[in-house]
Amino acid sequence: MLIKSAKFLISATDYKKCPKQPLPEYAFIGRSNVGKSSLINMLTNHSHLAKTSGKPGKTQTINHFIINENWYLVDLPGYGYAKTSKSKKVELGTIIETYLKFRENLTCVFVLIDIRHEALYNDLQFMEWLGENEIPFIIIFTKADKLSPSQIHIAVEKYKSTLLESWEELPQYFVTSSETRQGREEVLNFIERTNTS
Ligand code: GTP
Ligand code: MG
Repeated sequence: MLIKSAKFLISATDYKKCPKQPLPEYAFIGRSNVGKSSLINMLTNHSHLAKTSGKPGKTQTINHFIINENWYLVDLPGYGYAKTSKSKKVELGTIIETYLKFRENLTCVFVLIDIRHEALYNDLQFMEWLGENEIPFIIIFTKADKLSPSQIHIAVEKYKSTLLESWEELPQYFVTSSETRQGREEVLNFIERTNTS
């Protein structure tokens, strides 16, 4: 897919304040610092469309971008950042949960996983929750530039075998790097294939 335009629309703290036009929507979620905002910039060819930071916990709102005037891309706050206060965690949890449950035009959630990390309890728990709520999702492994091709293969196989302990079928997945742009075409093709507008 060719990215002809990518524009920031709105930051919302409530799904009810999200854009009203019912376009297909793809949301990026994952632990703090996993590379959500960087991936959005890489996919859209914009170095500063979504705000990135070396410090975890940068994104704290539901951020809508409109791509090619016909689909939405959404940057969500990260979860699982230990230094966030308890009340803030609850607040962000509620924002994310209600958005995911009630946003009717949500086509697919991209769950980002740092390829260097072993399967983490809160990622697995989050995917369980998506499954229970029948919210479609795929996995995007990030930061692939940090590993060699053989290490990537081992990491992905290990992750898959952990998932198969609780899932009958594996979700679709892509291996990406915002540094080398690995996986860009695959992710954009997935969006093009599933975009019904
Ligand atoms: P929060 O908004 O805080 O939840 O973080 P985020 O998931 O949006 O992460 P962000 O894109 O801000 O990136 C976090 C850090 O990881 C930054 O220092 C990025 O430069 C770095 N980073 C992101 N993607 C990659 C990647 O593919 N490769 C490498 N090497 N670093 C990356
Ligand atoms: Mg971010």
